Amino acid sequence: MPTLVVAGLQWGDEGKGKVVHLLSKKFDYIVRYQGGNNAGHTVVFEGREFVLHLIPSGILEKGKKCIIGNGVVVDPESLVDEINFLEKKGIEIKNRLFISDSSHIILPYHKILDGIREKIQNIGTTKKGIGPCYADKVSRSGIKMCDYLDSKTFAALVEKNLKEKSKVLGNISAIKKEIFRKYPGIASKIRKYVTDVSILINDQISKNKRILFESAQGTLLDVDFGTYPYVTSSNPVAGGVCTGCGIGPTKIDKVLGVVKAYTTRVGEGPFPTELKDDTGDFIQQKGKEFGATTGRPRRCGWFDAVAVRYAVMLNGCKEIVLTKLDVLDELEKIKICIGYKYSGKIFERFPSSREVIQEVKPIYIELTGWQKSIKGITQFNNLPFNAKKYVKKIEQLVGAKVSLISNGRSREETIRL
Ligand code: IMP
Repeated sequence: MPTLVVAGLQWGDEGKGKVVHLLSKKFDYIVRYQGGNNAGHTVVFEGREFVLHLIPSGILEKGKKCIIGNGVVVDPESLVDEINFLEKKGIEIKNRLFISDSSHIILPYHKILDGIREKIQNIGTTKKGIGPCYADKVSRSGIKMCDYLDSKTFAALVEKNLKEKSKVLGNISAIKKEIFRKYPGIASKIRKYVTDVSILINDQISKNKRILFESAQGTLLDVDFGTYPYVTSSNPVAGGVCTGCGIGPTKIDKVLGVVKAYTTRVGEGPFPTELKDDTGDFIQQKGKEFGATTGRPRRCGWFDAVAVRYAVMLNGCKEIVLTKLDVLDELEKIKICIGYKYSGKIFERFPSSREVIQEVKPIYIELTGWQKSIKGITQFNNLPFNAKKYVKKIEQLVGAKVSLISNGRSREETIRL
């Protein structure tokens, strides 16, 4: 299919980086449509590990072109660092990276504001300035990439914004000095990549080019559908592609969801199946569950079929990729959450209310583990019986077909169904 969206169905870190990297071979363009450098894609390629935050992992695949859509918030400093990092590793960026002239830029004051808000809200953000940058965009005081590249407009907008925010920021002169010292130079390095990417994408679609859209974060961190207010400030759901890139919904051919064989979450917020015990610690260590962006340990828990079923519905996906199944190899018993209990009632649907989701108690079914390494297995039929049973149960509970299983970090460690 010419256009495919790859969306995370949990709280992010589902292993989308590997999936996108694996699929990128078949696509001409790989596009990011939301989020910013709060994301962290870890990809193991040719024995080397790459952690990318902003540029799609498709950049590692020779000849593929990468796009950053208008729905993304771009930290110019971090973007240039990432470009330099990739170039040092011998990866060619020239004529392969396109950044929307309508994306909004993150400036140092957004990061300071993120820190200040965190003291009040305690969301556990990445402190990369994501929320404050999106807040400026929506309140119509943001700075678009094209404004940034026009030095006069940029200077005027920075002045205006700092003045407006001075009550919260305190002394703004040091911030202003830093911006005017550093940011014009950074702009000159970025300029050659900036274009109207909605025109580019629509043109390429009409030429039948193959385009893969990758989400950052996951559905349960979606600002509209996630565990609000413990969410990010954008729309990781597949629908975000339309507003985040400027294409119509009729141009999306397929949505592929990505889920981990268990659940993780970084930062604060409700997590009904969280394991605060030895099993949780075991999964965290074996799954190397530490944030790619902040290094924070990820909270770990059992697979939550209520949450994933909800995410499957919101994204409209018929197929899912199940990642990190091998992490569960040694467990004697494995649980899956099939419903929530709250105030004497049973919920089979993911609740919207912050009060309810915070307090629900999971209802589990228990399956027997396979207690055997599944490393090196490339055929579904060769998996241990109990591993197959686990996969089939997930399919049945979430209402989507598992089309790919990841059982290791490299591209080769994959089982196609
Ligand atoms: P923000 O996106 O930095 O504003 O953080 C909001 C919430 O989203 C926090 O709970 C973060 O830990 C979480 N978050 C942001 N980006 C990621 C990600 O790439 N993976 C997992 N969690 C994330």
